[in-house]
Amino acid sequence: MTATVLISRTTPKSVDAVAVPVGTTGAVPRSLGLNRAALAAIGFEGKPGQTVVVPSGTGPAQIAVGIGEAGTLTVQGLRNAAAAVVRAAGKRAVVATNLADLDGVDAVKAAQAVVEGGLLAAYRYAGIKKEPNKSALTQLVLVVGEKRTNGARIGSERGQATAAAAVLARDLANTPPAYMTARHMAEKAVEVARACGLTVEVFNRGQLAEMGCGGMLGVNAGSVEPPRMVRLTYTPRNPSGHLALVGKGVMFDSGGLSLKPSDGQIAMKMDMSGAAAVLATMGSLKGLRCKAKVTGYLMCTDNMPGGNAVKLGDVLTFRNGKTAEIHNTDAEGRLVLADGLSLAVEDAPDAIVDIATLTGACMVALGTKVAGVIGNDQSIVDRLRAASAATDEQIWQLPLEKAYRKQLDSNVADMRNIGGPPGGAITAALFLNEFVGDVPWAHLDIAGPMAADADDGWLSKGATGFGTRLLIELATGFTK
Ligand code: BES
Ligand code: MN
Ligand code: ZN
Repeated sequence: MTATVLISRTTPKSVDAVAVPVGTTGAVPRSLGLNRAALAAIGFEGKPGQTVVVPSGTGPAQIAVGIGEAGTLTVQGLRNAAAAVVRAAGKRAVVATNLADLDGVDAVKAAQAVVEGGLLAAYRYAGIKKEPNKSALTQLVLVVGEKRTNGARIGSERGQATAAAAVLARDLANTPPAYMTARHMAEKAVEVARACGLTVEVFNRGQLAEMGCGGMLGVNAGSVEPPRMVRLTYTPRNPSGHLALVGKGVMFDSGGLSLKPSDGQIAMKMDMSGAAAVLATMGSLKGLRCKAKVTGYLMCTDNMPGGNAVKLGDVLTFRNGKTAEIHNTDAEGRLVLADGLSLAVEDAPDAIVDIATLTGACMVALGTKVAGVIGNDQSIVDRLRAASAATDEQIWQLPLEKAYRKQLDSNVADMRNIGGPPGGAITAALFLNEFVGDVPWAHLDIAGPMAADADDGWLSKGATGFGTRLLIELATGFTK
């Protein structure tokens, strides 16, 4: 259960901990019970994200939280500070802080960031356990003065919505593959659609065959679990534009006949993180009064090496009529996205963004904190970069280098499904580029940041929900 958020003028009496922001210079609030010399003596300098818990007899614990040098406070700094506070609070259930009341950051953005940081740091995947994992945090209290109360209410509501969406994406991706098949994912999508004012259509294997979605069928061929494609639509009155989102939903990626080694398979229940981010984003739009029309495609199947699996050298025909010769069945994400992008193009949206745990190469290039972004249109890439700056879900642009397209040339089909080893993230994007026509398009490769190997600020060990807050930020500000 996610903690509740309370906005209060004063610090309630019954809290278990109070977090007190402390800069590297300037006065230390008296309420902390330790002065600067005493803090320095225990190694606390007020650096961003530093914390120290000061127990106090019967009253609430005081938690000093560093906010750095005066005048350097940012939205990211507040999100990180709130996360550090919740981690430092440990077993304490009700935590109050005036972090959202500090000068220098807009009241709405400050409250949103503090709520996101606090709630996401408190996230635990319940697990399949007799005693489910859970966080101790039950309530986060934002103490703000009268002037900032209205802004704090708005920001807190937004923060609760974006955090809840990221939590949904994390839960979906953390769920073991037998519990989160394509059919389960489609059921979840129907639930979310009903609860969140979306229209939803679910397509099964027969329907995908009729539609000519040979990428979905090819990837699914080696599995006993049927595929599902889900289309979700959010339609506000007088839409400001139309955005399409396409998510890779490979429910488990064994590699297919090009089987991954065991170590490479262990995280592959999370190979549906793109679809999870799209579903979670779609679910948040109505509550956030998004002005743009948004269509979401979830391309869900697992990738298994069963007796009917696609063989190397086989050729698949996609929804848009193009064909690909399969040289590696582990390059399956692009095959399901090919059908999703083709379908998205048919809706004639103003822009398409796909999100996918697509290549190990992108993870090698950018590590686990930064996703790759590659597009055919600088404007949509730049809008994603702006959303990234606001949400602290980091992305870095790689080029759609057309000179590498010849790596995909095939004698037998319109293209092969892999390039040579160099530039693997880029050749994957060049493959996708064959399916977007002239529609402005950007591709997010989230293979690196899909998972965290340890608790770290607002990231918790396991699935990160990466891209959810980023896509919400993009969609809720989207105009054509
Ligand atoms: N799902 C993987 C990519 C991946 C790897 C995501 C590690 C997250 C962590 C994808 O389907 C894949 O297997 N890609 C291959 C492509 C190659 C065969 C061209 C890869 O990156 O090795
Ligand atoms: Mn793969
Ligand atoms: Zn994959």
